[in-house]
Amino acid sequence: MKFSTLSTLLLVPATALAQSSSASGSASASAASASASGAAGNGSDYLTTVLGALTSAGLTSLVGAAQGIAGTSEGQALLGSLAQGNKTVFAPSNAALSNVSQDILGNNALLTQILAYHILNNTYTSQGVATAPNHTIARTLLRGGNYTLPGNFTAPLVLAKNSTNATSFEIIQTTSNISAGGNATAANLHVYVIDQVIQLPQSLDTVVPEIAPQLNGLVGSIPGLADSLASANGITIFAPNDAAIGAIQSSLGQLNATQVTSVLSNHIINGTVVYSTGLGSGNYTSAGGEPFTFVSNSSGAYVRSANSTAKIVQSDIILNNGVIHVIDNVLVNTASNPQAAESAYSSAVAAASTSTEANTPVTATSAATTPSGSGGGSSSGASSAGFKIEPLGFTNSMMGGIVAVVGAVVGGVITLF
Ligand SMILES: *[C@@H]1O[C@H](CO)[C@@H](O)[C@H](O)[C@H]1NC(C)=O
Ligand SMILES: *[C@@H]1O[C@H](CO)[C@@H](O)[C@H](O)[C@H]1NC(C)=O
Ligand SMILES: *[C@@H]1O[C@H](CO)[C@@H](O)[C@H](O)[C@H]1NC(C)=O
Ligand SMILES: *[C@@H]1O[C@H](CO)[C@@H](O)[C@H](O)[C@H]1NC(C)=O
Ligand SMILES: *[C@@H]1O[C@H](CO)[C@@H](O)[C@H](O)[C@H]1NC(C)=O
Ligand SMILES: *[C@@H]1O[C@H](CO)[C@@H](O)[C@H](O)[C@H]1NC(C)=O
Ligand SMILES: *[C@@H]1O[C@H](CO)[C@@H](O)[C@H](O)[C@H]1NC(C)=O
Ligand SMILES: *[C@@H]1O[C@H](CO)[C@@H](O)[C@H](O)[C@H]1NC(C)=O
Ligand SMILES: *[C@@H]1O[C@H](CO)[C@@H](O)[C@H](O)[C@H]1NC(C)=O
Ligand SMILES: *[C@@H]1O[C@H](CO)[C@@H](O)[C@H](O)[C@H]1NC(C)=O
Ligand SMILES: *[C@@H]1O[C@H](CO)[C@@H](O)[C@H](O)[C@H]1NC(C)=O
Ligand SMILES: *[C@@H]1O[C@H](CO)[C@@H](O)[C@H](O)[C@H]1NC(C)=O
Repeated sequence: MKFSTLSTLLLVPATALAQSSSASGSASASAASASASGAAGNGSDYLTTVLGALTSAGLTSLVGAAQGIAGTSEGQALLGSLAQGNKTVFAPSNAALSNVSQDILGNNALLTQILAYHILNNTYTSQGVATAPNHTIARTLLRGGNYTLPGNFTAPLVLAKNSTNATSFEIIQTTSNISAGGNATAANLHVYVIDQVIQLPQSLDTVVPEIAPQLNGLVGSIPGLADSLASANGITIFAPNDAAIGAIQSSLGQLNATQVTSVLSNHIINGTVVYSTGLGSGNYTSAGGEPFTFVSNSSGAYVRSANSTAKIVQSDIILNNGVIHVIDNVLVNTASNPQAAESAYSSAVAAASTSTEANTPVTATSAATTPSGSGGGSSSGASSAGFKIEPLGFTNSMMGGIVAVVGAVVGGVITLF
């Protein structure tokens, strides 16, 4: 009998796990036999197996959602890609999905995007995730439409583990983190049950008014700037918080519109998305054509433009077209160099067209680059820990996530199959 590629992918990891003595060993053993019985089959056998496993685990709402999107071509493409290589699935519990409105659950295009944002393109366990305040940037399967990044990269999730608990990690969101505790392996899938649906990356005009209202006002005072940011194909924004803008309000008032535009442009990297993990390792030029400098020491991570320095107080707020890092000071650099800005943008476009990061396989161990970490120590471009960042308000929301998950994954490990 010839095994199809799909069946081989299914069988290899499941069999390997069945031989391990881990807590999920017996579950995986039946996974192996379940997939073995469908070995001569096709994608629909695979899906039947996976959906059956999720049903057995009580994740009936998620199965309903998956069945809903299966009738559309985008949905089929997403479900089909599940079988290709190892994947991590954040599976919302029934309770989590019951909080999602019928408008969304009934919109298959939107639901497909939401589910795509719950699937990581590799296996991630807590061992490979950076310890807070560092982050691991993990690529999901979400791309296209409103989620277009340079180089056709997929939208990432931000992960970090609590230094006091090496056996779980969190999905870091702007307002509330989601804990990924117990996990189970089902064929090529590594599944974590989560108690909240992960929010899709938001657009700039949703996020900025929430996290930096003063900045939002300032951007709005420059005609066309908000639109050009929102329509950028990849953007990195260092967003001064309200206190930062309040502190220099009177000096800002003395600048004319051209100067304010230059100051704001010197907070932006046009055409390139630089997450916290990449800030320390590149030379970046602002949309105003001025160079950025980054330094990191035991007190935190800092960004500098001309003579102004600001501390990064919250990093990696994921946008549909880029990323925001919140800073505690305005980079008051009124200089501008349109030629350097244009050249930096052209280089960014050229780099994106040849980038292979999106297709680089990421293993759980290569995700950790912390010297004391348990990982392999080598960094791959798509996911690495790195720059030290001190997120504001991290503790409170993180504790919320931890408290909430206790009810969702009783006993630590869910059993599939
Ligand atoms: C999937 O994971 C298994 C077990 O960790 C590993 O042996 C296998 O090489 C991985 N497959 C791919 C395609 O990365
Ligand atoms: C997930 O499973 C792996 C392998 O069984 C285990 O080492 C890890 O601690 C588990 N938990 C998390 C959160 O990764
Ligand atoms: C993109 O976002 C707009 C505004 O939120 C929405 O109306 C539209 O349906 C979205 N398109 C896609 C393909 O998701
Ligand atoms: C992006 O990647 C997807 C999946 O590989 C592919 O279908 C799509 O055509 C690509 N889009 C562009 C603009 O390259
Ligand atoms: C660590 O997290 C796991 C999974 O959420 C939980 O079961 C365990 O009790 C936690 N350990 C500590 C010491 O908080
Ligand atoms: C980015 O560069 C392009 C090309 O020069 C330009 O059209 C666009 O306005 C720039 N965007 C920002 C936010 O500076
Ligand atoms: C803004 O101020 C700068 C510095 O004083 C000056 O060179 C420039 O001409 C002014 N621009 C406008 C539009 O007034
Ligand atoms: C950044 O620029 C400096 C000075 O030109 C150069 O020495 C360094 O290698 C560059 N770093 C990177 C990562 O390109
Ligand atoms: C930056 O500081 C240097 C030295 O203190 C000074 O000469 C220069 O004028 C300052 N530049 C700006 C843009 O303020
Ligand atoms: C997932 O990773 C594989 C390589 O491991 C790559 O071929 C594939 O394009 C990636 N898929 C997405 C959606 O990025
Ligand atoms: C965060 O990353 C920095 C730079 O790689 C490293 O020096 C630091 O030890 C890391 N912090 C933690 C808590 O792992
Ligand atoms: C880490 O987890 C412990 C125990 O669950 C909790 O007390 C602590 O506040 C957490 N730390 C952060 C930074 O969330």
